[in-house]
Amino acid sequence: EALWLVVPAAGQGRRMGAQRPKQYLALAGQPVMAHTLSRLHQAFPAARLCLCLDPDDTLFDPAWVPFAHWQRVAGGAERADSVAHALAALSGQAGDEEMVLVHDVARPCVTVNDLVRLYEALSNDAVGGLLAAPVADTMKRDDGAGRVAATESRQGLWHAMTPQGFRYGLLRRALAAARQQGLVVTDEASAVEALGLQPRLVAGRRDNLKITHPEDLALAARILAAQHA
Ligand code: C5P
Repeated sequence: EALWLVVPAAGQGRRMGAQRPKQYLALAGQPVMAHTLSRLHQAFPAARLCLCLDPDDTLFDPAWVPFAHWQRVAGGAERADSVAHALAALSGQAGDEEMVLVHDVARPCVTVNDLVRLYEALSNDAVGGLLAAPVADTMKRDDGAGRVAATESRQGLWHAMTPQGFRYGLLRRALAAARQQGLVVTDEASAVEALGLQPRLVAGRRDNLKITHPEDLALAARILAAQHA
């Protein structure tokens, strides 16, 4: 049974305010994308990769892809559209019961251990699930004008991370239904939840950060260095 990896990498990374999309910024001497793909390959050397890229991308270099079986697909307007394009491209290749792990290209610090733990936790799960970490900070809701309107309970709250893993048939159905209902889904799990299912939360390391803001790049470099130490 094949394992499929979908890596959405078609974002512009506007919050970084950089010259190029964040997946192409240098991190410890290599582009962010090369680190991310290398971690995935170390964990799952025989997996098949579907990489979502902006059709106008001129920075991508296939030398960064360590997988023997891989394909590129055109990204869409939103992350969920990019993932939906990947799943459409896998039609006829992926079986409905085969596992698809979706991982943000902007999360290069995910560890091989967490990747393997997630896969093992999901391999016998009827729904699927995601890496996540319990919220540590006290959570404030703002009033829209920079003042606290309320303190929310952090009890039972988790940060949703990636990878998120679901069976091909279920994930395709979930994303199609979300699109049809006009739901804005920022991860795969929320599309599956909208079907009334409950994805499994698999506790992962908190340093699986998503590079989003300028200061995150230096933080990711320190995390990688500490993981190699
Ligand atoms: O912008 P954000 O950090 O939420 O993006 C999460 C992931 O989705 C990134 O890996 C980004 O490249 C990808 N993405 C995409 N297609 C889009 C928007 C984002 O593949 N249209």
